[in-house]
Amino acid sequence: MEKVEVFENKRATGYNEFVGAWIPNYSYFLSKLPDLLSETKNKDLLVAGCGTGNEIVCFVKNSKQWSITGVDPSPEMIIQAKEKLKNYNNVNLIKGVVSDVEKTHKFGAATLLLVLHFMKDDGTKLSLLKSIAERLESNAPFVLLDITGTKKQLKDNLQVLKQLLPNNLTEEDINNRFYRIENELNAVSEERLSELLIEAGFEAPVRFFQTSIYMGWITKKWEN
Ligand SMILES: C[S@@+](CC[C@H](N)C(=O)[O-])C[C@H]1O[C@@H](n2cnc3c(N)ncnc32)[C@H](O)[C@@H]1O
Repeated sequence: MEKVEVFENKRATGYNEFVGAWIPNYSYFLSKLPDLLSETKNKDLLVAGCGTGNEIVCFVKNSKQWSITGVDPSPEMIIQAKEKLKNYNNVNLIKGVVSDVEKTHKFGAATLLLVLHFMKDDGTKLSLLKSIAERLESNAPFVLLDITGTKKQLKDNLQVLKQLLPNNLTEEDINNRFYRIENELNAVSEERLSELLIEAGFEAPVRFFQTSIYMGWITKKWEN
């Protein structure tokens, strides 16, 4: 069973406001996902940890060609995604984890945004990445957004992030969030992320996006 970080109550209902405030350029990142994957021939997309459906909305608004499976274990997040996406018949939402998706279903692309840093690097990150790789066809692109960096990089980049945050956040909010990022979440260095992806069955990733501690990566499933 994959480890699950459950989003419920305020964490679920206030989620969109939270990401908008704390992740500069998050909506820009999302808006560019369809462009990034535009050359993918097989438009069958796996959105792992789809939350409230933010990344799925960008794909369905961009084109009718995509067929999308969103998976998320948090009931309150998937309820919001279902409501947001109820008018699209090319979206299938599953309350569960990636290993609940049939292994015989081979997707043409996948995303994993803001999920991996909740998992420990004790085999848990690797097992989620492997579950995704096993459900992709050869050469399928895989896009990640995650808190990334060594302890020193995170510390330095958090000082930059502080300057980019909205003015209505209190000093206490900022200190609490930064404490959590440095001490309770499980970010890994760029090198370690690359090792994990390679071990899971992907090529070495390319970093194409960064805002302070948040890095966007693209890789593809190895050719079998
Ligand atoms: C920070 S939210 C990101 C949601 C969405 N990707 C976005 O960018 O808006 C993290 C999500 O990961 C989900 N999650 C937790 N454990 C998971 C797992 N093992 N597999 C997939 N998703 C998981 C949570 O339920 C939550 O909705």
